Amino acid sequence: MPLATSKTTQPPPTPISPDMYQDLQIIFHPDPRLKKRSVPVQVFDENLKALASRMLELMRQASGVGLAAPQVGLNYRLFVMNATGNPEDDRVYVNPELYDPAGEEEGEEGCLSLPKIAGTILRNKSMRLKALDLDGNPVEAAETGFIARIWQHETDHLNGVLITDRMGSVEKMAARKILRELEQKFNGNK
Ligand code: NI
Repeated sequence: MPLATSKTTQPPPTPISPDMYQDLQIIFHPDPRLKKRSVPVQVFDENLKALASRMLELMRQASGVGLAAPQVGLNYRLFVMNATGNPEDDRVYVNPELYDPAGEEEGEEGCLSLPKIAGTILRNKSMRLKALDLDGNPVEAAETGFIARIWQHETDHLNGVLITDRMGSVEKMAARKILRELEQKFNGNK
C-alpha cells in the first residue's frame, strides 16, 4: 500500500529524531499545532517506535483511550489508542485512512487537549481503517461503535480538527469559559 502522500502539498517532512520525543508532553488548546494538517510518516525506524511507545505511556498517564501525534506537538500522521486499558489492546496506526463509513451515531467525547470539555459528537457508526504498522507493513481493520469512534476522533486530529469544531452551538457556548481559561493559560505560558 503506498504512503498517503497525494493530499499534501507541504515539503517532505523531516524524519523523527530523539530530540523530538525526549521531553514529550500533551499540548492543549489553543496551541496552533493542534490546528495543522499533519504530514505522512516516511521513515520507519527506532525513533518512530520510541515516539509511539512514549505516546502510549502519556495516553495511559492521562487516562485516555487515544492520542494523536499533533497532541504531543508533532505534526505527523500517527495515532495510538487503547480502548480497554489492557496492555494487549495497545494499537499504533501510522498514516491511517478511514473508508467505507456506515450509519451514524451520537456519543459523548472528551479530548486530552481540551481538558474538562465534553461534547456530543455525531460520528459514523462503522468504519474501515487501513494504515501502516511501526515496521511499515499494511494493516487493515473494521470496527463498529466505540473503537470506530476513537478512529474518527484521532484521524480528525491529524487533519487539525478538534471536537470543538464538531460540537453544536449550545455545547460550544457551555465550553466557552473553559476555552477562555485555556487560552489565558496558553498566552501566559508563552
Ligand atoms: Ni482528542
